[in-house]
Amino acid sequence: MKVLVTGGAGFIGTNLVRLLVSERSDWNVEVLDYLTYAGNFENITDLVSDGKVVFHRTDLCDQEGLQKVFGSDGYDIVFHLAAESHVDRSLYAASTFASTNVLGTQQLVDCALATKCKRFVHVSTDEVYGSMGPNDRATEDYPIVPSSPYSASKAASDLMVLAAHKSLGLPAVVTRCTNNYGPYQFPEKFIPLFITRTMNEERLPLYGDGMQMRSWIHVLDHCRALLSLAEHTVVGKVFNIGGPLESEIPNIHVAKKIIELLGKSEALIEHVTDRPAHDRKYAVDSSALTALTGWAPQVLFQQGIEETLSWYQEHTAWWQAILSGDYKQFYQQHYGARHQS
Ligand code: NAD
Ligand code: TYD
Repeated sequence: MKVLVTGGAGFIGTNLVRLLVSERSDWNVEVLDYLTYAGNFENITDLVSDGKVVFHRTDLCDQEGLQKVFGSDGYDIVFHLAAESHVDRSLYAASTFASTNVLGTQQLVDCALATKCKRFVHVSTDEVYGSMGPNDRATEDYPIVPSSPYSASKAASDLMVLAAHKSLGLPAVVTRCTNNYGPYQFPEKFIPLFITRTMNEERLPLYGDGMQMRSWIHVLDHCRALLSLAEHTVVGKVFNIGGPLESEIPNIHVAKKIIELLGKSEALIEHVTDRPAHDRKYAVDSSALTALTGWAPQVLFQQGIEETLSWYQEHTAWWQAILSGDYKQFYQQHYGARHQS
Protein backbone atom coordinates (compact mmCIF):
# COMPACT_ATOMS: atom_id res chain seq x y z
CA MET A 1 0.00 0.00 0.00
CA LYS A 2 1.51 3.34 -1.09
CA VAL A 3 0.37 6.15 1.15
CA LEU A 4 0.88 9.93 1.08
CA VAL A 5 0.42 12.10 4.17
CA THR A 6 0.34 15.81 3.35
CA GLY A 7 1.29 18.02 6.28
CA GLY A 8 3.18 15.08 7.77
CA ALA A 9 5.70 17.35 9.52
CA GLY A 10 2.98 19.29 11.34
CA PHE A 11 1.24 18.40 14.61
CA ILE A 12 -1.43 15.89 13.60
CA GLY A 13 0.51 14.75 10.53
CA THR A 14 3.54 13.78 12.64
CA ASN A 15 1.35 11.75 14.99
CA LEU A 16 -0.41 10.08 12.06
CA VAL A 17 2.85 9.20 10.30
CA ARG A 18 4.23 7.71 13.53
CA LEU A 19 1.04 5.69 14.01
CA LEU A 20 1.14 4.36 10.42
CA VAL A 21 4.82 3.41 10.66
CA SER A 22 4.26 1.50 13.90
CA GLU A 23 0.88 -0.12 13.14
CA ARG A 24 1.00 -0.57 9.34
CA SER A 25 4.66 -1.43 8.91
CA ASP A 26 4.02 -3.03 5.50
CA TRP A 27 2.75 0.27 4.08
CA ASN A 28 5.07 2.59 2.13
CA VAL A 29 4.52 5.94 3.78
CA GLU A 30 5.54 9.21 2.10
CA VAL A 31 5.18 12.74 3.45
CA LEU A 32 4.55 15.88 1.45
CA ASP A 33 5.14 19.05 3.44
CA TYR A 34 6.37 22.52 2.50
CA LEU A 35 7.77 23.07 6.02
CA THR A 36 6.11 26.41 6.64
CA TYR A 37 6.62 27.97 10.09
CA ALA A 38 4.30 25.23 11.44
CA GLY A 39 6.14 22.28 9.90
CA ASN A 40 9.15 20.81 11.64
CA PHE A 41 11.32 18.29 9.79
CA GLU A 42 12.90 17.32 13.14
CA ASN A 43 9.58 15.67 14.10
CA ILE A 44 10.13 12.90 11.55
CA THR A 45 13.88 13.03 10.85
CA ASP A 46 14.46 9.69 12.58
CA LEU A 47 11.87 7.97 10.36
CA VAL A 48 13.32 9.49 7.19
CA SER A 49 16.93 8.56 8.15
CA ASP A 50 15.84 4.99 8.94
CA GLY A 51 14.23 4.71 5.49
CA LYS A 52 10.77 4.22 7.02
CA VAL A 53 9.35 7.35 5.41
CA VAL A 54 10.11 9.20 2.17
CA PHE A 55 9.94 12.98 2.44
CA HIS A 56 9.02 15.53 -0.26
CA ARG A 57 9.43 19.20 0.50
CA THR A 58 6.73 20.51 -1.84
CA ASP A 59 4.25 23.37 -1.79
CA LEU A 60 0.62 22.36 -2.37
CA CYS A 61 0.34 25.47 -4.52
CA ASP A 62 3.13 24.28 -6.86
CA GLN A 63 1.25 22.25 -9.43
CA GLU A 64 4.32 20.93 -11.28
CA GLY A 65 5.97 19.98 -8.01
CA LEU A 66 2.86 18.05 -6.97
CA GLN A 67 2.67 16.27 -10.31
CA LYS A 68 6.31 15.18 -9.91
CA VAL A 69 5.62 13.74 -6.46
CA PHE A 70 2.59 11.80 -7.73
CA GLY A 71 4.42 10.60 -10.88
CA SER A 72 2.33 8.35 -13.09
CA ASP A 73 1.48 5.77 -10.40
CA GLY A 74 0.31 8.10 -7.63
CA TYR A 75 -0.85 6.68 -4.28
CA ASP A 76 -3.37 4.16 -3.02
CA ILE A 77 -4.30 6.41 -0.09
CA VAL A 78 -3.88 10.15 0.39
CA PHE A 79 -4.38 11.60 3.87
CA HIS A 80 -4.69 15.34 3.27
CA LEU A 81 -3.72 17.34 6.36
CA ALA A 82 -1.47 20.11 5.01
CA ALA A 83 -3.08 23.47 5.68
CA GLU A 84 -2.69 26.84 7.26
CA SER A 85 -4.33 25.99 10.57
CA HIS A 86 -4.32 28.87 13.07
CA VAL A 87 -7.46 31.01 13.42
CA ASP A 88 -5.60 34.04 14.81
CA ARG A 89 -3.10 34.09 11.94
CA SER A 90 -5.96 33.86 9.43
CA LEU A 91 -7.13 37.28 10.64
CA TYR A 92 -3.92 38.80 9.26
CA ALA A 93 -3.24 36.57 6.23
CA ALA A 94 -6.55 35.34 4.79
CA SER A 95 -5.16 35.12 1.23
CA THR A 96 -2.48 32.66 2.29
CA PHE A 97 -5.21 30.52 3.87
CA ALA A 98 -7.26 30.68 0.66
CA SER A 99 -4.21 29.74 -1.48
CA THR A 100 -3.07 26.77 0.58
CA ASN A 101 -6.36 25.46 1.91
CA VAL A 102 -8.55 25.96 -1.16
CA LEU A 103 -6.33 26.15 -4.26
CA GLY A 104 -3.73 23.77 -2.78
CA THR A 105 -6.43 21.23 -1.94
CA GLN A 106 -7.88 21.46 -5.47
CA GLN A 107 -4.46 20.87 -7.01
CA LEU A 108 -3.97 17.82 -4.80
CA VAL A 109 -7.41 16.56 -5.85
CA ASP A 110 -6.43 17.03 -9.51
CA CYS A 111 -3.32 14.86 -8.99
CA ALA A 112 -5.32 12.23 -7.09
CA LEU A 113 -7.89 12.06 -9.90
CA ALA A 114 -5.25 11.93 -12.66
CA THR A 115 -3.46 9.01 -10.98
CA LYS A 116 -6.62 7.15 -9.90
CA CYS A 117 -6.05 7.37 -6.16
CA LYS A 118 -8.14 4.73 -4.37
CA ARG A 119 -8.86 6.65 -1.14
CA PHE A 120 -8.69 10.37 -0.41
CA VAL A 121 -9.16 11.31 3.25
CA HIS A 122 -9.68 15.06 3.50
CA VAL A 123 -9.01 16.17 7.06
CA SER A 124 -11.22 19.09 8.02
CA THR A 125 -12.56 20.69 11.16
CA ASP A 126 -15.74 21.14 13.16
CA GLU A 127 -15.07 24.89 12.94
CA VAL A 128 -16.85 24.90 9.54
CA TYR A 129 -20.15 24.62 11.49
CA GLY A 130 -19.50 27.92 13.27
CA SER A 131 -20.60 28.44 16.84
CA MET A 132 -22.97 25.95 18.42
CA GLY A 133 -25.70 26.64 20.95
CA PRO A 134 -24.85 25.73 24.59
CA ASN A 135 -26.69 22.38 24.39
CA ASP A 136 -25.86 21.54 20.77
CA ARG A 137 -23.55 19.03 19.18
CA ALA A 138 -23.27 19.28 15.41
CA THR A 139 -24.28 16.32 13.29
CA GLU A 140 -22.89 16.10 9.74
CA ASP A 141 -25.95 17.90 8.30
CA TYR A 142 -25.53 20.93 10.59
CA PRO A 143 -25.41 24.25 8.62
CA ILE A 144 -21.99 25.38 7.40
CA VAL A 145 -21.54 28.88 8.86
CA PRO A 146 -17.80 29.50 9.34
CA SER A 147 -16.72 32.55 11.37
CA SER A 148 -13.02 32.99 10.53
CA PRO A 149 -11.01 33.08 7.30
CA TYR A 150 -9.46 29.78 8.49
CA SER A 151 -12.76 27.97 8.90
CA ALA A 152 -14.17 29.53 5.72
CA SER A 153 -11.18 28.24 3.73
CA LYS A 154 -11.61 24.76 5.25
CA ALA A 155 -15.34 24.79 4.42
CA ALA A 156 -14.51 25.75 0.83
CA SER A 157 -11.99 22.92 0.56
CA ASP A 158 -14.54 20.43 1.95
CA LEU A 159 -16.98 21.47 -0.77
CA MET A 160 -14.31 21.18 -3.51
CA VAL A 161 -13.48 17.63 -2.37
CA LEU A 162 -17.15 16.59 -2.14
CA ALA A 163 -17.83 18.09 -5.57
CA ALA A 164 -14.85 16.19 -7.03
CA HIS A 165 -16.40 13.01 -5.63
CA LYS A 166 -19.83 13.82 -7.03
CA SER A 167 -18.84 14.98 -10.48
CA LEU A 168 -15.55 13.17 -11.17
CA GLY A 169 -15.67 10.12 -8.92
CA LEU A 170 -12.91 10.99 -6.45
CA PRO A 171 -13.12 8.24 -3.79
CA ALA A 172 -13.08 10.76 -0.95
CA VAL A 173 -14.32 11.13 2.60
CA VAL A 174 -14.27 14.38 4.55
CA THR A 175 -13.61 14.36 8.31
CA ARG A 176 -14.51 17.15 10.73
CA CYS A 177 -12.69 16.80 14.01
CA THR A 178 -12.87 18.83 17.19
CA ASN A 179 -9.86 20.54 18.86
CA ASN A 180 -6.81 18.26 19.16
CA TYR A 181 -4.13 18.27 21.85
CA GLY A 182 -1.07 16.10 22.44
CA PRO A 183 2.63 15.87 21.57
CA TYR A 184 4.23 17.95 18.77
CA GLN A 185 1.56 20.70 18.78
CA PHE A 186 3.00 24.08 17.79
CA PRO A 187 2.86 26.28 20.90
CA GLU A 188 0.72 28.99 19.29
CA LYS A 189 -2.39 26.87 19.93
CA PHE A 190 -4.20 27.22 23.24
CA ILE A 191 -3.10 24.12 25.19
CA PRO A 192 0.64 24.11 24.32
CA LEU A 193 0.76 27.92 24.54
CA PHE A 194 -0.65 27.80 28.06
CA ILE A 195 1.52 24.81 29.09
CA THR A 196 4.77 26.41 27.93
CA ARG A 197 3.90 29.86 29.31
CA THR A 198 2.85 28.37 32.67
CA MET A 199 6.14 26.46 32.82
CA ASN A 200 7.93 29.78 32.20
CA GLU A 201 5.64 31.58 34.69
CA GLU A 202 4.51 34.01 31.98
CA ARG A 203 1.07 35.64 31.76
CA LEU A 204 -1.62 33.52 30.13
CA PRO A 205 -3.68 35.51 27.59
CA LEU A 206 -7.20 34.15 28.03
CA TYR A 207 -9.60 35.61 25.46
CA GLY A 208 -12.68 37.36 26.86
CA ASP A 209 -14.45 35.65 29.77
CA GLY A 210 -12.77 32.29 29.05
CA MET A 211 -16.15 30.49 29.03
CA GLN A 212 -15.82 29.42 25.39
CA MET A 213 -16.15 25.65 25.14
CA ARG A 214 -14.19 23.19 23.02
CA SER A 215 -14.49 19.39 22.82
CA TRP A 216 -10.86 18.31 23.33
CA ILE A 217 -9.70 15.14 21.60
CA HIS A 218 -6.32 13.50 22.04
CA VAL A 219 -4.46 13.56 18.73
CA LEU A 220 -3.99 9.77 18.74
CA ASP A 221 -7.76 9.26 18.95
CA HIS A 222 -8.10 11.52 15.91
CA CYS A 223 -5.38 9.61 14.01
CA ARG A 224 -7.02 6.27 14.80
CA ALA A 225 -10.29 7.60 13.44
CA LEU A 226 -8.55 8.67 10.20
CA LEU A 227 -6.98 5.23 9.85
CA SER A 228 -10.32 3.50 10.43
CA LEU A 229 -11.88 5.58 7.66
CA ALA A 230 -8.97 5.01 5.26
CA GLU A 231 -9.51 1.28 5.62
CA HIS A 232 -13.24 1.51 4.98
CA THR A 233 -14.94 1.53 1.60
CA VAL A 234 -17.45 4.31 2.22
CA VAL A 235 -17.08 7.33 -0.15
CA GLY A 236 -18.64 10.75 -0.68
CA LYS A 237 -19.54 11.25 2.98
CA VAL A 238 -18.65 13.57 5.82
CA PHE A 239 -17.75 12.15 9.27
CA ASN A 240 -17.50 14.08 12.50
CA ILE A 241 -14.80 13.07 14.98
CA GLY A 242 -15.29 14.26 18.55
CA GLY A 243 -13.63 13.90 21.93
CA PRO A 244 -15.16 12.09 24.92
CA LEU A 245 -18.18 13.90 26.40
CA GLU A 246 -16.31 14.77 29.59
CA SER A 247 -13.75 16.68 27.53
CA GLU A 248 -16.21 19.44 26.59
CA ILE A 249 -14.60 22.00 28.89
CA PRO A 250 -14.57 25.84 29.02
CA ASN A 251 -11.17 27.38 28.30
CA ILE A 252 -10.81 28.84 31.78
CA HIS A 253 -11.14 25.37 33.34
CA VAL A 254 -8.49 24.02 30.97
CA ALA A 255 -6.19 26.89 31.97
CA LYS A 256 -6.78 26.22 35.68
CA LYS A 257 -6.14 22.48 35.20
CA ILE A 258 -2.77 23.18 33.53
CA ILE A 259 -1.83 25.60 36.32
CA GLU A 260 -2.85 23.11 39.01
CA LEU A 261 -0.90 20.23 37.43
CA LEU A 262 2.20 22.43 37.13
CA GLY A 263 1.80 23.75 40.68
CA LYS A 264 1.71 27.44 39.67
CA SER A 265 -0.59 30.36 40.55
CA GLU A 266 -3.92 31.21 38.90
CA ALA A 267 -2.77 34.83 39.03
CA LEU A 268 -0.92 34.05 35.79
CA ILE A 269 -4.28 34.18 33.96
CA GLU A 270 -4.91 37.52 32.29
CA HIS A 271 -8.28 38.09 30.61
CA VAL A 272 -7.39 39.87 27.35
CA THR A 273 -9.42 41.40 24.51
CA ASP A 274 -11.46 38.69 22.87
CA ARG A 275 -10.77 37.27 19.43
CA PRO A 276 -13.14 38.84 16.87
CA ALA A 277 -16.12 36.58 16.03
CA HIS A 278 -14.89 34.10 18.63
CA ASP A 279 -17.11 31.00 18.44
CA ARG A 280 -18.57 30.18 21.88
CA LYS A 281 -18.76 26.46 21.44
CA TYR A 282 -17.62 23.63 19.20
CA ALA A 283 -18.75 20.07 19.78
CA VAL A 284 -19.84 17.31 17.44
CA ASP A 285 -21.85 14.13 17.39
CA SER A 286 -19.58 11.41 16.00
CA SER A 287 -22.06 8.53 16.27
CA ALA A 288 -22.07 8.04 12.46
CA LEU A 289 -18.36 7.17 12.53
CA THR A 290 -18.80 4.90 15.56
CA ALA A 291 -21.68 3.08 13.86
CA LEU A 292 -19.62 2.59 10.68
CA THR A 293 -16.22 1.59 12.02
CA GLY A 294 -16.62 0.98 15.76
CA TRP A 295 -14.21 3.84 16.49
CA ALA A 296 -14.65 5.74 19.76
CA PRO A 297 -12.28 8.11 21.58
CA GLN A 298 -10.21 6.31 24.22
CA VAL A 299 -8.23 9.02 25.97
CA LEU A 300 -9.97 10.87 28.80
CA PHE A 301 -8.97 14.51 29.24
CA GLN A 302 -7.36 14.07 32.69
CA GLN A 303 -5.05 11.31 31.40
CA GLY A 304 -4.39 13.05 28.07
CA ILE A 305 -3.51 16.41 29.59
CA GLU A 306 -1.17 14.81 32.15
CA GLU A 307 0.65 12.91 29.38
CA THR A 308 0.80 16.02 27.21
CA LEU A 309 2.25 18.06 30.06
CA SER A 310 4.90 15.41 30.60
CA TRP A 311 5.76 15.47 26.89
CA TYR A 312 6.32 19.23 26.96
CA GLN A 313 8.36 18.89 30.16
CA GLU A 314 10.55 16.26 28.51
CA HIS A 315 10.92 18.18 25.23
CA THR A 316 11.81 21.70 26.36
CA ALA A 317 14.46 22.09 23.63
CA TRP A 318 11.80 21.33 20.96
CA TRP A 319 9.44 24.13 21.99
CA GLN A 320 12.07 26.58 23.20
CA ALA A 321 13.60 26.57 19.70
CA ILE A 322 10.18 27.51 18.28
CA LEU A 323 9.40 30.18 20.86
CA SER A 324 12.77 31.89 20.44
CA GLY A 325 12.43 32.15 16.64
CA ASP A 326 9.94 34.02 14.39
CA TYR A 327 7.11 33.15 16.77
CA LYS A 328 8.30 35.97 19.07
CA GLN A 329 7.30 38.51 16.40
CA PHE A 330 3.86 36.97 15.96
CA TYR A 331 3.30 36.97 19.72
CA GLN A 332 4.21 40.67 19.90
CA GLN A 333 2.02 41.57 16.92
CA HIS A 334 -1.00 39.63 18.13
CA TYR A 335 -0.85 39.88 21.92
CA GLY A 336 1.27 43.00 22.49
CA ALA A 337 -1.68 45.41 22.68
CA ARG A 338 -3.89 42.84 24.42
CA HIS A 339 -1.73 42.50 27.54
CA GLN A 340 -2.17 45.27 30.11
CA SER A 341 1.51 46.10 30.33
P1 NAD B 1 -0.21 22.29 11.68
O1 NAD B 1 -0.29 23.76 11.41
O2 NAD B 1 0.48 21.81 12.89
O3 NAD B 1 0.48 21.58 10.43
C1 NAD B 1 0.20 21.92 9.11
C2 NAD B 1 1.31 21.36 8.21
O4 NAD B 1 0.99 21.71 6.85
C3 NAD B 1 2.68 21.93 8.53
O5 NAD B 1 3.64 20.88 8.62
C4 NAD B 1 2.99 22.84 7.33
O6 NAD B 1 4.36 22.90 7.01
C5 NAD B 1 2.17 22.17 6.22
N1 NAD B 1 1.80 23.13 5.17
C6 NAD B 1 1.23 24.35 5.34
N2 NAD B 1 1.07 24.95 4.16
C7 NAD B 1 1.55 24.08 3.21
C8 NAD B 1 1.65 24.13 1.79
N3 NAD B 1 1.27 25.22 1.09
N4 NAD B 1 2.15 23.06 1.15
C9 NAD B 1 2.56 21.96 1.83
N5 NAD B 1 2.52 21.88 3.17
C10 NAD B 1 2.01 22.92 3.85
O7 NAD B 1 -1.72 21.79 11.62
P2 NAD B 1 -2.41 20.59 12.41
O8 NAD B 1 -2.96 21.12 13.68
O9 NAD B 1 -1.54 19.41 12.40
O10 NAD B 1 -3.67 20.33 11.47
C11 NAD B 1 -3.58 19.42 10.38
C12 NAD B 1 -4.92 19.40 9.66
O11 NAD B 1 -5.95 19.02 10.55
C13 NAD B 1 -5.33 20.75 9.08
O12 NAD B 1 -5.89 20.53 7.81
C14 NAD B 1 -6.36 21.28 10.06
O13 NAD B 1 -7.29 22.11 9.41
C15 NAD B 1 -7.00 19.99 10.53
N6 NAD B 1 -7.56 20.02 11.89
C16 NAD B 1 -6.80 20.44 12.95
C17 NAD B 1 -7.34 20.42 14.23
C18 NAD B 1 -6.53 20.83 15.43
O14 NAD B 1 -7.07 20.91 16.54
N7 NAD B 1 -5.24 21.08 15.32
C19 NAD B 1 -8.67 20.00 14.43
C20 NAD B 1 -9.41 19.58 13.33
C21 NAD B 1 -8.84 19.59 12.06
P1 TYD C 1 -7.06 27.54 19.46
O1 TYD C 1 -6.07 26.59 20.03
O2 TYD C 1 -6.54 28.71 18.69
O3 TYD C 1 -8.06 26.68 18.59
P2 TYD C 1 -9.44 27.14 17.85
O4 TYD C 1 -9.54 28.60 17.85
O5 TYD C 1 -9.18 26.60 16.49
O6 TYD C 1 -10.53 26.47 18.61
O7 TYD C 1 -7.97 28.11 20.63
C1 TYD C 1 -8.72 27.24 21.46
C2 TYD C 1 -9.56 28.10 22.38
O8 TYD C 1 -8.69 28.84 23.25
C3 TYD C 1 -10.39 29.13 21.63
O9 TYD C 1 -11.65 29.29 22.29
C4 TYD C 1 -9.58 30.40 21.76
C5 TYD C 1 -8.89 30.25 23.10
N1 TYD C 1 -7.59 30.92 23.19
C6 TYD C 1 -7.33 31.84 24.22
O10 TYD C 1 -8.18 32.12 25.09
N2 TYD C 1 -6.10 32.45 24.26
C7 TYD C 1 -5.14 32.20 23.32
O11 TYD C 1 -4.03 32.80 23.42
C8 TYD C 1 -5.40 31.25 22.29
C9 TYD C 1 -4.37 30.93 21.25
C10 TYD C 1 -6.64 30.62 22.27
